[in-house]
Amino acid sequence: MDKKIALVTGGSSGLGFAMAEELKKQGFFVVVIARNKGENFNFDDFLSCDLSDSASRRNLIQTIQEKYPAIDILINNAGIGSYAANYELELSDLKRLMEINYFAPVELNSKLLDNVAQAKGTIVNISSVAGLMPVACMGAYCSSKAALFMHSESLRMEVGAKNVHILTVCPGRINTGFSSRAIRVRECPDTPSNKNESAALLAKKIYRAICRKKDILIFPWWYSAVVWFTRKFKRLYRYGNKRVWKLD
Ligand SMILES: NC(=O)c1ccc[n+]([C@@H]2O[C@H](COP(=O)([O-])OP(=O)(O)OC[C@H]3O[C@@H](n4cnc5c(N)ncnc54)[C@H](OP(=O)(O)O)[C@@H]3O)[C@@H](O)[C@H]2O)c1
Repeated sequence: MDKKIALVTGGSSGLGFAMAEELKKQGFFVVVIARNKGENFNFDDFLSCDLSDSASRRNLIQTIQEKYPAIDILINNAGIGSYAANYELELSDLKRLMEINYFAPVELNSKLLDNVAQAKGTIVNISSVAGLMPVACMGAYCSSKAALFMHSESLRMEVGAKNVHILTVCPGRINTGFSSRAIRVRECPDTPSNKNESAALLAKKIYRAICRKKDILIFPWWYSAVVWFTRKFKRLYRYGNKRVWKLD
């Protein structure tokens, strides 16, 4: 194949769709992986997979290994949120969330590492700023994204000889239907952070970070200061969380 190959999980909507569009614009052969094709599908291949299901993941990996021996960019983007106190979430929902947000990317990265190495390519793991700081009533989501962050950062130390570039992305709130698709025991309160950033702008920044072989991208940049604030002023931050979520 003359074009470079990019695989995007969760490319049917939101950030994944914006990434797929950006990569298509940049001349890549774009493969979207999701349960649904989504609206306005205009990419080169679609692989249907429920990433929460290990049998479905096994089939997906086999198909990819047969069709795409060399992968230039693998983007682990598919993910779901949760709005529930830790003690309110059903174990089955927690397990499903961890399957999609953590186990699926870990399995894809492990099983497809040689395919990415074949192209001296890039693995992008979409974590979240919620993986860098605790948020009340989003504990399951924060845990899954913190786990993915650590997976991504430790993987980078392990793949040196294979010539694989690892990029960890930690977005703040972005303008997608993510909140409406989250596992919800509570409604997400309206906070100043609901002034969302655009997925298309983040997709451009991610592509630039891939080209520049950056390690970590926090978007928007000022979330680095927010993370610092939450660590420095723990009690104030805890108080704010309790107020926002109306906790005792
Ligand atoms: N939006 C934000 O504010 C924000 C902030 C920080 C980080 N992030 C992260 O950014 C990533 C993209 O989120 P988004 O905002 O673009 O959300 P989104 O619009 O809800 O997109 C989620 C994507 O994941 C796919 N997906 C969900 N469950 C799946 C499953 N079981 N199997 C296969 N695919 C599945 C969905 O496709 P199907 O439904 O077709 O399967 C969809 O394409 C996520 O990892 C999210 O955690 C988002």
